[in-house]
Amino acid sequence: MSPRASGSITICDMTLANRGIPTSAGLLGKLSRAGFLSKHWQKRPLFVPGAIPDCGAWLQPATLFELAARDDVASRLGMRVRNRWTVHHGPFKRSEFRKLPRGGWTLLVQGVEQYIPQSSDLLGFFSFIPHARLDDLMVSYAPPGGGVGPHFDSYDVFLLQGLGTRRWQISTQKNLQLVDDAPLRILKDFHSTQEWVTQRGDLLYLPPRCAHDGVALEECMTLSVGFRAPRKLELASRFLEFLQDELPSGGALDGLYEDPDLQLQKHPAALPPAMLEKISRALMHIRWNARDVAQFTGRYLSEPAHEAVFDRPRRPLALPNFVRQVSRNGARLTLRTRMLFHGGTVFINGESHPLPPQDRTALIRLADQRATPAFMPSRAGAALLHAWYCAGYIVV
Ligand code: SIN
Ligand code: CO
Repeated sequence: MSPRASGSITICDMTLANRGIPTSAGLLGKLSRAGFLSKHWQKRPLFVPGAIPDCGAWLQPATLFELAARDDVASRLGMRVRNRWTVHHGPFKRSEFRKLPRGGWTLLVQGVEQYIPQSSDLLGFFSFIPHARLDDLMVSYAPPGGGVGPHFDSYDVFLLQGLGTRRWQISTQKNLQLVDDAPLRILKDFHSTQEWVTQRGDLLYLPPRCAHDGVALEECMTLSVGFRAPRKLELASRFLEFLQDELPSGGALDGLYEDPDLQLQKHPAALPPAMLEKISRALMHIRWNARDVAQFTGRYLSEPAHEAVFDRPRRPLALPNFVRQVSRNGARLTLRTRMLFHGGTVFINGESHPLPPQDRTALIRLADQRATPAFMPSRAGAALLHAWYCAGYIVV
């Protein structure tokens, strides 16, 4: 077991002395962000010791258990009993954890960034990757011996060690066959080719389909920054739904199927060739352009997590007061808000709005950094921001 194993994967060595303020340079060791994207992203793993000093010190196990007790939080408990894996879905009562064995189980809590404000700072380190690719922050807690078994993920992930130590093993194996009928995705055959013992602040980046296995050596918490990779088929079906809502009324696809020219046919069960011709002509009217693709993509990727609920202000400020606040204090996104932009359009929580040109700089900053300093919005900008504020998307 060597925390500095070498071999096919890159290790960025850093001395303790330069485990300083986390900058993008510290995060990726000696690699630049561009170097990481060209050499590692979606390609090969990267281990960086001390990437984020004090990583996750703001998150105690008790807070994670509290999150796992909430019915608006997605949580799972994985356990291995002899050779059988079980998985239970939350919410979990505190008393349920007390009944668990001393070791060998893992609690996984998804979407932590929606509940814990400090997560934004952590995710901020990864903003050299477009927000449109970000999925969520998952945090695991495991007593000694806990883990979710050898597996692979279909997406890119940065695994950051918080509390305790964990032994990570990874493999370059191409055989990704899974154990049949297991409630977790467990690899049938896992042969480790590299391993590290990670401690607080260490980072392990894994590209999609890289086999890995993490076992807690002591009480441990791991923070996983996961990136989303929608299935192309899902994109296509959601795009067709989008087009359905966007198709102009009064167009060639309006109205019902008609066949005043119906001809006699020998077999009543046979599909009439003329019908196929008419349907194929109608379908050819489904058209789209680059604007439709951008509108769809922005709305789709800014949709909030399905469990997200927005807290509206109980007694919202009236527009003039609200504008005064923005002009004095600026505004920031609430934790569950997702905001993207493209050209002259801004997308927020699945909605799209034209970007008021005078407020462009401030709104782009709000989307990029999740906060904007004080500024005086235009009339259109003030109306838009006020609507978002009343919906619980932003706060002042
Ligand atoms: C964990 O944190 O225990 C699991 C994370 C992973 O393997 O993706
Ligand atoms: Co994994």
